[in-house]
Formats: sequence, C-alpha cells, structure tokens
Amino acid sequence: MDTSITTDLELCRTLLKEGEVVAIPTETVYGLAANIFDSQAVEKIFSVKKRPRFNPLIVHIKDLGSLKSVVEKVPEKALLLAKEFWPGPLTLILPKKDGISDIITAGKPTVGVRIPNHKTTLELLKGLSFPVAAPSANPFTRISPTSAIQVFDYFGKSVTVLDGGQCEIGLESTIVGFEDDEPVVYRKGGIPLESIEAIVGPVKINSKSESEPVAPGMLLKHYSPRTRLLLTEDFDAILPDFKGSKVGVLSFSRTEFENVSYVKTLSLARDLQEAAKNLFQSLYELDRLNLDVIIAEIFPKTGLGLTINDRLERARAT
Ligand code: TXA
Ligand code: MG
Repeated sequence: MDTSITTDLELCRTLLKEGEVVAIPTETVYGLAANIFDSQAVEKIFSVKKRPRFNPLIVHIKDLGSLKSVVEKVPEKALLLAKEFWPGPLTLILPKKDGISDIITAGKPTVGVRIPNHKTTLELLKGLSFPVAAPSANPFTRISPTSAIQVFDYFGKSVTVLDGGQCEIGLESTIVGFEDDEPVVYRKGGIPLESIEAIVGPVKINSKSESEPVAPGMLLKHYSPRTRLLLTEDFDAILPDFKGSKVGVLSFSRTEFENVSYVKTLSLARDLQEAAKNLFQSLYELDRLNLDVIIAEIFPKTGLGLTINDRLERARAT
C-alpha cells in the first residue's frame, strides 16, 4: 500500500495542525479536510479539488457542544434534527459565527455543519482543538470517493489519506437549510426525506435553478463518470439498441443480461441501503472499463431510492 494512505491518527493530526489538507473517512463519502481557522489550509482544499470558489464547504464538528463555536443561532427544528440524526449524514445550514471565514461559506452569512458518524474521524477530531472543513474528496464534478484507494487514484501522493475502510452510507449527507426557521431540503442524501419529515413534519424541497444553486451539490453536472450514462426503467427495451457496443449495466437486483460486457448489481436483496453503499464505487469501477455506454436502472421512488435517482440523474448530465 502506498505511504500516502495511512491509519496513523497522530500523523494526520500533525499534518492538519501544520496547515495541510488530509483526506478523511466519513460514513457518507471521504472528505478533503483542513483546519477551519487556517485560511491558507482551506484555500488548499479548493486548489487540490479544482473547485470553484462560489461553492461553500461543510464544517465537521466532534460533538453537539462544539456547534456554538461555529453557528450563531439554532432554530428549534434544527436542534430536533441534530439531536435525532447526529452523528450522521445530515448537514444543517445555519447562521455562521463571525470567526467562520468567507472562504468556507463562499461569502454567505450561513455555514454548513455536521457531526460525521465515523469512529476513526471522530477520534481524530477529539484530539484536535479545531473543527475541519471538508468537501467530498473528488476533483470537481467527479464521482465522490467511498474508499481510501479511490481518493489515492484521484490525487496520488499529493494528499495523505486517513484510511477508514469503505464508507457505510455511500451517499453524501442530506442538506437542510432554514427559511424563517422552517426546514428546507437543499440536497437529498443519506437520510431519507421521510425520516426528516417524521421528526419535523412536512418540509419544502428547494428546486432553485441549477445555474444558481443554493447548494452546488445541486449543480446538474456532478458525480460524473467519463463514460456515457443512460437511465432506464426497462433494460429489455433499451438493450437491443446497443447490440455490438460494449455495454456496462448498473442494476438494482437483476444479474442476468444478454450481450452485456459487464454487470454491477447493487443489492441482490433489493435493500436500498445496501444499494446506496455500493453505488458510487460500482459506477466508478464501470467507468474504468472503457465501455461505450453504462445503462443504469431507475430506482424505486421512495426513501434512499430518491437520493440514488438524484445522483444517477446528475451523473448522466453532460
Ligand atoms: O456527506 C457529506 O456531506 C460529505 C462528507 C465529506 O461530509 N461532504 C460533501 O461536501 O458532500 P461537498 O462540498 O461535496 O458538498 C457540500 C454541499 C455543497 O453542495 C455546498 O454548496 C453545500 O454543501 N453547502 C455548504 N455550505 C453551504 C451554505 N452555507 N449554504 C448552502 N449550501 C451550502
Ligand atoms: Mg461533493
């Protein structure tokens, strides 16, 4: 294994204290982390990722008590959600404290914050005197990484990766903002909409134009493979059109296909959680096979199926 992939927490803490960027595991996807109070370190995240400056970062804190060092005000429904889902795949967008720099928030008066549910990263954070800002550890518009080796494939030795195994959730966090203290979902994610609504009642879904995203995870072209990607509800109807082509298939539970070069099945048991966990890794692997086309199944339009479909639609956009 390459030396830039490590399990040495103390090394990672030292690098972060020295103003370096370190890739960290979370339950959703790997993140590219830096000390939130070191502007130069935060700048490095943007240059490593080639991420546009208008796209703000999520601050990762170690516990609920740290929230007040980052945000000014917590609406009642935000606190309910935090208490229910943290540590976990929920990002809250809240009014920022003055000390949170404009580089992190892209000049916005709000900041995205969450407690990641990953043992290694929580241990890392508990040994630091500062939270870390971290976007997903992929170059801008590429598929988010769910394993240490995938981060290494993207950035090579330029970034040290803390290895925490394969991400359990496999999809980015659900992002919830507040308008007049009422929750608005800005990005579908690892916590299904139904679970959010079970805690705070019906929520608005923000469908702002893609060219002016509230959360640029909403930029239409995102999570993209290089290979052409098509979505279908009926493989048998679409596959005959691709006779003679090198076709890869991404299916929910089906395994048998004719005239297909490669099949990735996300969950034999038709378990949406298992499918979500395997989604990005499978798409990434198919993308490396030099196929003419990847054909992916449209998932059931419920629970995490909605998040999976959201990611597939963005991955398809060109
Ligand atoms: O699961 C996750 O959220 C992962 C892990 C590493 O925590 N992180 C992640 O970060 O997906 P990123 O940067 O790829 O996506 C964060 C999203 C972006 O779409 C960004 O625009 C939005 O959060 N965001 C951050 N701060 C915001 C703010 N103040 N207002 C609106 N959107 C914000
Ligand atoms: Mg991202």
